[in-house]
Amino acid sequence: MDRPTIIAGNWKHNPDRNLGESLWREVAAGTMSRIPAGEHNPPVKVVIFPPTPWLGWLVSREGLECLGNGFPESAVLEIGMQEISDRPVGAYTGEVGAELAHQFGARWTLVGHSERRIHFGETDEDVARRLTAAVDHGLCPLLCIGETSEERDAGRTFEVVSHQLEVGLSRFDKKHEYAIAYEPVWAIGTGRTATVEQVEDVHQHLRELLQKKIGSASDGIPILYGGSVKPDNARDLLGLDVVDGALVGGASLKAASFLEILDAGIATA
Ligand code: 13P
Repeated sequence: MDRPTIIAGNWKHNPDRNLGESLWREVAAGTMSRIPAGEHNPPVKVVIFPPTPWLGWLVSREGLECLGNGFPESAVLEIGMQEISDRPVGAYTGEVGAELAHQFGARWTLVGHSERRIHFGETDEDVARRLTAAVDHGLCPLLCIGETSEERDAGRTFEVVSHQLEVGLSRFDKKHEYAIAYEPVWAIGTGRTATVEQVEDVHQHLRELLQKKIGSASDGIPILYGGSVKPDNARDLLGLDVVDGALVGGASLKAASFLEILDAGIATA
């Protein structure tokens, strides 16, 4: 089964008010000129995960003007939350949940990013709850998993990612739609990309796990790689059969480098 190639930009806690607007304009224009708008199942799609205040602006009239007529009808360029609450709408100060995010244009959400696990103590159980909160309100979750350098050095990579996947997906059944991002913690923001062999090994393992777990329903689930993806390594990584896209952090903050990675995705799709 053909899975779309997904080139995703995680803007993290960036960019500021000035930079974000020009970044969005360039990324939107660059995406629309490369992928024909109006395709409902495009072979390559772009998803941007901005900080929450940007979400409303990107789908405001001003933000949408950058896209011509191609959004939100087309699935070529979509936006998502970096994090969602597992609480319902109501008296939960500071929370933003899937239902509200969906109303403001989000179609995706990251869940379980290692920065949430490390800095904010999110557990695999929290991840499982957030995943169901996402799909219950129409967001496609992108579940992030990956080992630390100590875990890799101890030969525990498969064990760690398998556990994160098992517990994370424990509330799901076959019909749920989601995507996975393998992001080794030691490769995030360090400039130390995993080798093609390391990525291939883990992705192959994850694909087999999914196949065992949910059979042919797993064919439609994209597995992305994230961790220091840059224009100069994107083609090798995206060229692997077992890699269905990239989750890009630092290099997504410059339109030119993000679009070069998108070009690599288009060339290898
Ligand atoms: P970098 O591309 O900056 O390593 O970040 C990867 C990441 O965390 C994407 O979610």
